[in-house]
Amino acid sequence: MRVGIVTGGGDCPGLNAVIRAVVRGGEALGHSCVGFRHGWRGVVENDFVTLTQASTRGILATGGTMLGTSRYHPDEHEGSLEQIVDTLRREGVEALIVTGGDGTLRASQKVAEHGIRIVGVPKTIDNDVLMTDRSVGFDTAVSIAADAIDRVHTTAESHDRVMVVEVMGHHAGWIAVSAGVACGADAILIPEEPFEIDEICATIRHRHRKGVTSSIVVVAEGAQPAEGTIDFRTVQDPNGTIMAGAVGDRVRAEIASRTGYESRVTVLGHVQRGGSPTAADRLLATRFGIAAIDAVDEGKSGVMTAVIGDEIVLQSLDEATQSARYVPPELRRLANRLSG
Ligand code: F6P
Repeated sequence: MRVGIVTGGGDCPGLNAVIRAVVRGGEALGHSCVGFRHGWRGVVENDFVTLTQASTRGILATGGTMLGTSRYHPDEHEGSLEQIVDTLRREGVEALIVTGGDGTLRASQKVAEHGIRIVGVPKTIDNDVLMTDRSVGFDTAVSIAADAIDRVHTTAESHDRVMVVEVMGHHAGWIAVSAGVACGADAILIPEEPFEIDEICATIRHRHRKGVTSSIVVVAEGAQPAEGTIDFRTVQDPNGTIMAGAVGDRVRAEIASRTGYESRVTVLGHVQRGGSPTAADRLLATRFGIAAIDAVDEGKSGVMTAVIGDEIVLQSLDEATQSARYVPPELRRLANRLSG
């Protein structure tokens, strides 16, 4: 069978490892693969490359996606579904393996509802895809953020400063909580819990009174102040994507003016999505890639690979795309208990 691979949405480390696993696993089962360029746009525009074990050699440890990506969602463009059917029929592609975050997977489910065989693979540094404990790219992003926060710690101490570190996390604060707890942050602000700027300032003042003259505040880019506190709205591009830096800078400015302590902001932004995947992400991506091609081989469709505990399973793509996956209360409480 000829199988198409699509990587859509924001890129992340580990996408190439998924592609490599699908191609190798597929060839071993007697299937051939093509890779559509730039996400769903490539399927609509019939833009693809042939993928073989030889052409995917050496990509396991590389960042980004060799196919390119885009935030193009076919269900939002008139005529796209017909063009997808056309491309697949013309090229003899019988099934698609689509690697994406919430937006791409939701669009894929809509396409699957039109009779196209689709197996999804969750990837996003935000880790907010439902019905899987982990998405490809998250582990790498957390380790990049943790390394950065450790570095910020030493300069904060040298200068007696409050350092605000803004990490990614549009709807969910997985990176902020994970890297923040791992690095002993003094306050962690996430989209799930509107923050009280007065409480954060009180925590920092309390630390100063104890003689601790530097503090680290980790803030997810989607964090919002509690209603009636400060007047702030996230800055978004026309697609609704948050523009990094706005909330981090605002939190820094509020802390500086309310406490009088010298404060700086570091916005990690796309650094968290770049470079080589960690060993854990390479392993997860490879397991997902093999599970996806096996699912295609078995004639499955409308499913998504997932990891629950340490087991790889298939979930309903429809159910997995109903909402985002948020940081659970237990982890939020832990972050709050350890701060300050
Ligand atoms: O969805 C992953 C993500 O990295 C989010 O954390 C962030 O809000 C968004 O992508 C940034 O997207 P872009 O690369 O389009 O600016």
